[in-house]
Amino acid sequence: MISTDFLVIGSGVAGLTYAVKIAEKFPNKKIIIVTKSSEDESNTKYAQGGVAVVLDAKKDSFKKHIQDTLIAGDGLCNKSVVETVVIKGPNRLEELMQWGANFDSDPKGNLDLGKEGGHSEYRVVHHKDITGFEVERALLKRAHQLSNISLLPHHFAIDLITEHHLKGATPESLSCYGAYVLDQKTDKIITIKAASTVLATGGVGRVYGHTTNPLIATGDGIAMAYRAKAQIKDMEFVQFHPTAMYSTEEGPSFLISEAVRGFGAYLRNKKGERFMLAVDERAELASRDIVSQSIDYQLKKSGDTHVFLDCTHLDLDAFINHFPNIYKKCMSLHIDISKDWIPVVPASHYLCGGIVVDMDGKTTIGNLFACGECSRTGLHGANRLASNSLLEALVYAHNIFKYQCEHLPENSEIEIPDWNDEGTTVPKEHVLIQHNLKQLQALMQNYVGIVRNNNRLCRANKHLGLVFDEVEELYIDSKVNTSLCELRNMVNIAHLIIAQSIGRKQNKGGFFNIDNIEVKA
Ligand code: FAD
Ligand code: SIN
Repeated sequence: MISTDFLVIGSGVAGLTYAVKIAEKFPNKKIIIVTKSSEDESNTKYAQGGVAVVLDAKKDSFKKHIQDTLIAGDGLCNKSVVETVVIKGPNRLEELMQWGANFDSDPKGNLDLGKEGGHSEYRVVHHKDITGFEVERALLKRAHQLSNISLLPHHFAIDLITEHHLKGATPESLSCYGAYVLDQKTDKIITIKAASTVLATGGVGRVYGHTTNPLIATGDGIAMAYRAKAQIKDMEFVQFHPTAMYSTEEGPSFLISEAVRGFGAYLRNKKGERFMLAVDERAELASRDIVSQSIDYQLKKSGDTHVFLDCTHLDLDAFINHFPNIYKKCMSLHIDISKDWIPVVPASHYLCGGIVVDMDGKTTIGNLFACGECSRTGLHGANRLASNSLLEALVYAHNIFKYQCEHLPENSEIEIPDWNDEGTTVPKEHVLIQHNLKQLQALMQNYVGIVRNNNRLCRANKHLGLVFDEVEELYIDSKVNTSLCELRNMVNIAHLIIAQSIGRKQNKGGFFNIDNIEVKA
């Protein structure tokens, strides 16, 4: 057993920002970060567009950013959360820059501001089209400079430790005492006892067949919190990004940033029509839910597999300067953006819901916090405004830090049992895990996509029941391994998305069920 003051699960923007702040403030306290892949692998690393922050005092204002966020969220945002996050944004960005993150400047030396869907002003701070890569680089560098942080890559958190694991405990209220963690190199399960635990495990994109998210995005933190009986909300609001590059190959889809539309690119169907003009006065820069639903409609009507992003009218040199990575990727696929349209299709991208937290990042379980994409703060409501996610993680990492400063956690004397894997064996057929995963991703893709209906949701529920039984059987009999745990977590996530979709009787933001049309509010 290892004992620590602070346990952080996940090394994306949320986990690292929080860990760095705690480590700087409390040099004598011990912070452990466990992360299941290499230290930088995360959704954060792939963020393209940037961080939405109000900086241009002449044209922009907090009021406008707040308003844009509320409009995108379609009436379901928590207004005071929105105000807090937007107003605290500039300070948090400043801090990130002090830790060494570099963002692009305009010719006058001010930060260059981009624009994305749903934003009424230019306010997206970016580092070319690889903003997340830069943020992750800077935070990791700072974390490595702090000797009280131990960063353990290839350590997979299996489950949170709560009263459910303690002998003789009769839980009236629940607390978290750390986590059971699989050391993927030695295959040993270690017990990490912690006075305070932060889940910063990111998103759930991989429950869908097509996603912009990397392989780590399997919803582990939300599933662990759900099994520990924390409150989970708004799971029906899965955000589909309108412009993932169309490909017939398996694996994560390459994203064509919304900032490319902010730069002036047009969406066209196969016939060459700019179909967004007829849908919304903001055309290609309408909020994501509207653009994705319109593409879905175009595809269903025509039977086509994708639509196109047309950049041929844009200034090529300026494009290459702003989006070098996207340009390089297109060229590697023989798409010359000065002549060719880029084939694009919506793909699952972001989860607006998750583990319910209050303003301090506290979950409904004692000593357990959640931060970043795995949390549900109330900022996004029914649909996240572009580039508000990195911002949310920065602000809430700070909020949790502030809370901890005022309520310094103490490790309890409680005795925690080691992980019990008596009677389990190594699974004989690993391929079964892959079969179940494919089934799960197909059912979510086909029945729980951008446009839903009651019949498809009921089918999804029924099919998921079969996958659930098979996976539980495998889990109970097997020595745990990462892919089996991830699959089990994804089954939990799919269950939450389907059940909460069935429960939602009003269409809002990114949630659209044809059978709810009559009660649209
Ligand atoms: P992540 O960055 O995903 O980090 C999660 C961490 O938890 C990872 O280190 C992971 O390995 C670890 N982990 C997960 N499960 C376990 C486990 N069981 N045990 C141990 N470790 C675990 N947002 C914006 O605001 N602006 C953008 O421009 C933008 N562009 C995007 C582009 C792409 C392609 C994608 C996919 C997302 C984009 N987003 C953007 C969304 C944003 O990147 C994410 O929401 C944000 O980075 C999430 O940060 P996080 O720290 O919460 O999670
Ligand atoms: C993008 O660059 O289009 C992604 C931005 C986001 O998800 O906020």
